[in-house]
Amino acid sequence: MAYNASEAVTSGEYNQLWHRCWSESRTLWDKGDVSPALRELIDEKGWELPRGRGIVPGCGRGYDAMFLARPGLVMVGADLSQIAVEAATKLRDEKGVPADLVEFKLLDFFAFDVPAGGYQVAYDYTFLCALHPTMRSAWGARYADIMSPGGHLIALMYPLVKAEADRDRGPPFLLSEDDYRQALGDSFELIHIDPSCKTHDSRVGEEVITVWRRK
Ligand SMILES: C[S@@+](CC[C@H](N)C(=O)[O-])C[C@H]1O[C@@H](n2cnc3c(N)ncnc32)[C@H](O)[C@@H]1O
Repeated sequence: MAYNASEAVTSGEYNQLWHRCWSESRTLWDKGDVSPALRELIDEKGWELPRGRGIVPGCGRGYDAMFLARPGLVMVGADLSQIAVEAATKLRDEKGVPADLVEFKLLDFFAFDVPAGGYQVAYDYTFLCALHPTMRSAWGARYADIMSPGGHLIALMYPLVKAEADRDRGPPFLLSEDDYRQALGDSFELIHIDPSCKTHDSRVGEEVITVWRRK
């Protein structure tokens, strides 16, 4: 099911799309592993993450949330779909990742109670493109609300638009670097960008990793 960017849609209607994808096992976005750019940033480039609490909205099967979880950084993977939450929890237990380091929760990113002190780390990948374009400014405002000053939002920008690309139908809705700047620019400072980051094989040229610091 696809939407037009110009189509009026309530979030309730739009969210049904994701429930349907999961219940019909249509999860073609799922690469079955941590995103190479994230692994490279942390393991090879040694990016220092703040300690505290982290969140991965729209976590799907949770590979990235599990990767980021470590002593000193307790992660939550959040998804709208109960099926996703159960699949991620099962995978975590199969992999032996400690449950006290990463928890998967049934949450709507836009409507849940933020713990006192907010989040110090967030990771966004295949999430902004999953949202209807009318939700982009709310997406940026929500990150500003939930993150503490100095917190790091790692946004793996994807799928970056190619010339002539049709930006109007999705999900995934194609994006540009400017879309991220517009949504985050007021409350976040861009502190890292790597256009040469590693990518999934089928996404070469479509991904650029960035880190934004909450002002
Ligand atoms: C394209 S999938 C990406 C999943 C995962 N990040 C990955 O790369 O495998 C988008 C995910 O976002 C979830 N989602 C969509 N809207 C959401 C919302 N408002 N709050 C939380 N999760 C949401 C969907 O259920 C789906 O699992």
